[in-house]
Amino acid sequence: MKIIGIEHLGIAVKDLANDAPFWNHILNIEHRSTEGVEDQGVTTDIYDTGKGKVELLESTTPDSPIAKFIEKRGAGIHHVCFEVDDITEAIKELKESGIHVLGDEPSIGAEGYKVVFIHPSSTGGVLVELAEKS
Ligand code: CO
Repeated sequence: MKIIGIEHLGIAVKDLANDAPFWNHILNIEHRSTEGVEDQGVTTDIYDTGKGKVELLESTTPDSPIAKFIEKRGAGIHHVCFEVDDITEAIKELKESGIHVLGDEPSIGAEGYKVVFIHPSSTGGVLVELAEKS
């Protein structure tokens, strides 16, 4: 498994219309895309610094993982995403090391990347996403 770099920080927000302007207009980070990821129940709004992105996550359904996260812990950093060269190999290696990977197969996340999440119980408390660019 090779980690290529930090792909993005995932930030749970209550309201994109209210919270996105800070990233877009105050920090002036270039807007890249806004996209619904239906099986996660979220809208992703992505800003690209050129050296790592910010992914704002707004829930679209009351029982989505992001809605539950905000209910429990409030808005804020939700996950850190690392880019990997081969996600299928990464999943296999992590499982062999006893790491709690959420799923046996990657799913398709924002920007069409193949993604998988690692449970915070295996990482020191942070939800970690791995992504392979297609
Ligand atoms: Co993400």
